Amino acid sequence: MCGIVGYIGNRQAFPILIKGLKRLEYRGYDSAGVALLNGDMTVFKKAGKVIELEKVVDPNRLGATIGIGHTRWATHGEPNDRNAHPHLSQSGELAIIHNGIIENYASIKAELERRGYVFHSDTDTEVLVNLIEEVKKTENTTLDNAVRIALNEVVGAYAIVVLNVNNPDQLVAARKGSPLVMGIGDDEFFIGSDASSIIEYTKNVVYLDDQEFAVINRDGTYSIRTLGNVEKSHAIQKLEFSLEMIEKGNFEHFMLKEIYEQPKAIEDSLRGRMNASQGWIKLGGLDEYINRIDKAERFIITACGTSWHSGMIGEYLLEDLARIPVEVEYASEFRYRNPIIRDNDVVIAISQSGETADTLAAIELAKERQALIYGICNVIGSSIARASHAGSYTHAGPEIGVASTKAFSTQVSIITLIALQIAQVKGTIPTSKMREILYELENISKKIEETLLLNDQIKEIAAIYKDANNFLYLGRGYNFPVALEGALKLKEISYIHAEGYPAAEMKHGPIALIDENMPVVFLATNKSAYEKIVSNVQEVKARKGKIIAVVLKGDTQIAELADHVIEVPETEEILSPLITIVPLQLLAYHIAIMRGCNVDQPRNLAKSVTVE
Ligand code: F6R
Repeated sequence: MCGIVGYIGNRQAFPILIKGLKRLEYRGYDSAGVALLNGDMTVFKKAGKVIELEKVVDPNRLGATIGIGHTRWATHGEPNDRNAHPHLSQSGELAIIHNGIIENYASIKAELERRGYVFHSDTDTEVLVNLIEEVKKTENTTLDNAVRIALNEVVGAYAIVVLNVNNPDQLVAARKGSPLVMGIGDDEFFIGSDASSIIEYTKNVVYLDDQEFAVINRDGTYSIRTLGNVEKSHAIQKLEFSLEMIEKGNFEHFMLKEIYEQPKAIEDSLRGRMNASQGWIKLGGLDEYINRIDKAERFIITACGTSWHSGMIGEYLLEDLARIPVEVEYASEFRYRNPIIRDNDVVIAISQSGETADTLAAIELAKERQALIYGICNVIGSSIARASHAGSYTHAGPEIGVASTKAFSTQVSIITLIALQIAQVKGTIPTSKMREILYELENISKKIEETLLLNDQIKEIAAIYKDANNFLYLGRGYNFPVALEGALKLKEISYIHAEGYPAAEMKHGPIALIDENMPVVFLATNKSAYEKIVSNVQEVKARKGKIIAVVLKGDTQIAELADHVIEVPETEEILSPLITIVPLQLLAYHIAIMRGCNVDQPRNLAKSVTVE
């Protein structure tokens, strides 16, 4: 949440900052701002998206070759002009951009007020920049040293960049708990919350670790130190993705592009990790710890949101195939409820961004209690990936749409491989069955492509139900987490209230909601519980609910009962979520578009939730 960018070099900073902010807008879009240093400090900031900021800048004051920029997801203070970043220190000497939360801001603010500081915003960030100024003044020290000392007094999470009006040749950046990457060009440097804001200019990057700060100079030099003042040197890493991967191409929205990218994303996530004809699975991260993992008495899967839904599918897979008990925990609950964690537990943390604050805190807690942490992340080099003992990247490629789609399907693919590999080692699955599943997995992308061909039909269904106020999603077994995920997709991008429920559980409460105005989406592809689902469909029909059923190709029984059927290709039941989620993603997408919603940047949401 919040995107930050910085530039120092020979080019005009403003266009680079604006482009970077637009690429980071998925992290928050409540307000945007830039500070430019060209003799004096010029700040432009505005509530709303980056495009609103562009309308208020003075074109005659954009000549600076050093600057910082911010796009905000509001935490402290309303999303208005006043609270937009950058924030200036009292004297106007310093400007700061900040992603994160300063938890002890109130006590610092009170002390600064006692010393005569007056605040012009409601943000914790303005407190931080004034603390840095106060330290700089009282200790009579350099900006980098003042930043270091001030950050030692701060409790919370941050990625910051600070500009000093008296030193137009230097940027100071620091991080703890919020991501920060530095791009290294020819005598120029770029700073960003993630590499998407940098990739256009350089592939050479350095990721700062937590509690580190960088001093970046116009002469092409930089240094990195810890907040304890220990010099660090980090290897320069090469970015593996390209500019096209973070652009919309021929699609109108990132979300649609990412839905359509799922066949390829799954292939990328499986590549080199399995072979059906030879019957092997090999996840590098798992291999290394397999002797400990296959002896685990329990898996705890922890995650948030969509990743939590993949975790639920993981529970079914691991218990089904590897016969190991699994608990799935919301990271935010897990971390605060003094959970029982044993040293022979394996904790699997799932996160697209790898930066989700609650998931990160949950694994830190599990680590303290000696559990082995296995991370499943999409963003390479992210905090959760680095905090895990072992793990697998999903290789979905950058996911820009705020609503997660291809991250979900690649997470599910990876957990399927984990469950299969452990099952193979433990001998809990017959070899012939294993081969069948692997063959299906190898072919799953083709079946997803086939499912994507249903887009026009789904659009027609969307047009019928776009004005509904509520939706119910029902599924059993492997399709129950899919029902939860389908409901989440709809509510987050269309703002229609939607609930996912186990189909059989409906009669214990939600059935009271059903009348002729209630669309009910059934996931009815499970052969193992087919008759039971048919009964649930009957129960809804008897109460005049509108039934949209996702069924296997050729289904006739449910087709007779339902108002609409979406026929998808058959696969192994354990792999069915990879297919049944697709029509639900498309349904949510089309309904949201028809309601005039911004599907890529839904209100109040941010792609990466780095606050608790
Ligand atoms: C929903 C969505 C969120 C995220 C959640 C966790 O479409 O995107 O629910 O899944 O915020 O994020 P990650 O996976 O980055 O930890």
